Amino acid sequence: MHLTAEEQSLLNGETGPATQKAMQILTALGRIYGAERLLPIRSVQISGVSYDNLGEAGLAWLAEMADGGGKAQVLTTLNPAGMDVENYQALGISEDFAANQRRVLKAFETMGVVTTCSCTPYLFGNLPHFGEHIAWAESSAVCYANSVLGSRTNREGGPSALAAALTGRTPAYGYHLDENRVPVVHFVVEADIQSNPDFGALGKAIGDRLQRQGIRPVPYISGIEEASLENLKSFCASIATYGGVALFHLTGITPEAAQFAPPVETLTITQADLDHARSDLTVAEPDEVDFVSLGCPHLSPREIQRIAELLNGRQVTKEFWITTSRPVKGIADRMGYTAIIEAAGAKFATDTCCVVAPIQGRFKALATDSAKACYYAAGKNGFKTYLANYDEVIRLSQIS
Ligand code: F3S
Repeated sequence: MHLTAEEQSLLNGETGPATQKAMQILTALGRIYGAERLLPIRSVQISGVSYDNLGEAGLAWLAEMADGGGKAQVLTTLNPAGMDVENYQALGISEDFAANQRRVLKAFETMGVVTTCSCTPYLFGNLPHFGEHIAWAESSAVCYANSVLGSRTNREGGPSALAAALTGRTPAYGYHLDENRVPVVHFVVEADIQSNPDFGALGKAIGDRLQRQGIRPVPYISGIEEASLENLKSFCASIATYGGVALFHLTGITPEAAQFAPPVETLTITQADLDHARSDLTVAEPDEVDFVSLGCPHLSPREIQRIAELLNGRQVTKEFWITTSRPVKGIADRMGYTAIIEAAGAKFATDTCCVVAPIQGRFKALATDSAKACYYAAGKNGFKTYLANYDEVIRLSQIS
């Protein structure tokens, strides 16, 4: 692997132990994946921020990098943490957990990382442009950046993303290279796709088919005429979760699709496939739902506006979390949405989400509009799930 003189000096430890360790990680990765060189990057998004995932071992590693003089060289933001840093008590998070989570955020802050914790950094300033090389870690955001924005990233792990942040570089392999962005299978969608749960179910239907047939992504998808930012972030979260997809091309919608002819291998997603995927994720009885969460991935201002409209003048009877980033929450505050939502008894769970917060076993059944949240609610937290549109989720939140 070719290194420039500057990169060699980082690897030799001339700028301190943290950047040396970071270069060791990147060059090892580069060797494993056959990269010929490192690429300069413009931004980083780091996952593995919740103390629930990191534990003491992860925290010790972060502290070592911070003590070793590590400083972010490019704009670097964080994935959701294990708690709302301001409102954790209302969410039932213990003081012990909060103290440990603060230690994690402090280590990142010392390294110059922007400690805004969100899986939708593209909604508040970490917005890479077409063709830009970046190193992001959160699977839904990676899929969004590659597919919807046309920027270029592999799905980084927590350590490799931090290493990229501290050096401003990433190895040139995978989705950074033209040849790996070519679609290999054509999905023709013949189902009616309208809402976030539809897009989530479509991501599951395609993802399951890819896994079952052992097909390596990248999918080329036709048959969807329209998709909002919110639909696409929901779809990205789902297809990344169920199919391990980090890049897709959607005809007429994503920016690289027109560069490619449809691949010869063609699979069809029918209405029955979509209905099947939705029913797989709707296993709880409505009266079992005791937890409601909207915001996987983190909500946009428009989604919070819609929730406020639906909750206006009503009272929820279930634990109800609204998960978003702090900058977007600021917009909700200013627009009066927060006051309406909180008056209805729902809670903002800013900086965190129903998957990375330490709530295993705390509830029986989750109602949500997110196919990805359903996957982790069942697999990580042991909840039954109920996938539904906003209107129905809000209706369920009011049943006593
Ligand atoms: Fe984001 Fe948490 Fe969902 S990180 S994509 S809200 S699981």
